[in-house]
Amino acid sequence: MTTPDFIIVAIDGGAASGKSSTAGVLSERFNLLHVDTGSFYRALTAEMLRRGVSPADPTAVGTAVAALQLGTRVTGRRAEMEIAGRVAGDEIRSKAVNDHVSLFAAIPGLRQALLAYQRGQTVVARRHGFRGLVMEGRDIGSVIFPDADFRFFLYADPAERARRRVAQGQLDTIHERDRIDSSRKASPLTCPPGATAIDSTHLTRDEVVARMAAPIAARLAAP
Ligand code: CDP
Repeated sequence: MTTPDFIIVAIDGGAASGKSSTAGVLSERFNLLHVDTGSFYRALTAEMLRRGVSPADPTAVGTAVAALQLGTRVTGRRAEMEIAGRVAGDEIRSKAVNDHVSLFAAIPGLRQALLAYQRGQTVVARRHGFRGLVMEGRDIGSVIFPDADFRFFLYADPAERARRRVAQGQLDTIHERDRIDSSRKASPLTCPPGATAIDSTHLTRDEVVARMAAPIAARLAAP
């Protein structure tokens, strides 16, 4: 087998299942661009709220999003969405965004507008000299990169996930978001066939990372 020159790692899972923290470690270990697609949905949600566009009007949302000038800024190993040259700040973690993001993310026109942008992160990663990318979200292994080299699906007991969010100092409606994310028609949150499912309830971050890193390291070391 030849050593792949560019690898794609997909991580999906519900809120607070451990996607971001594990993706962060993998990005360091294997020189991968870290792409948190939840931050993209959050940035678009903040923009729509700022413009007064309601998720109850999917046509207006689709039109408004399709007209945006989207770019990517690479900060350290992370990809950040630029809208008209501006990166959204802490507002993407605000209560208003937490409360609305799943409603906007359920709109097919918004998801469609993000599809090419998300796939285009491979170009960004190559341009910045990364070995590949690790992309996390809800539909990465199912819709965005169904042919990814590695696909993981993280899950954890709901009470444990709620505890983690509180420990991060965040007030979040994770159960409500999970309910909307799992039941929507457009790209629902689900473990895609063939992905490696990992229950992180009783595992530390490093134990989860170890399970993900082992097959990646083996592939990269293969002659
Ligand atoms: O950090 P956490 O897992 O709580 O959420 P997030 O990754 O920041 O994602 C926020 C919301 O964006 C999710 O609840 C989904 O509604 C939406 N999302 C999505 O629909 N598809 C993705 N690939 C990523 C996020």
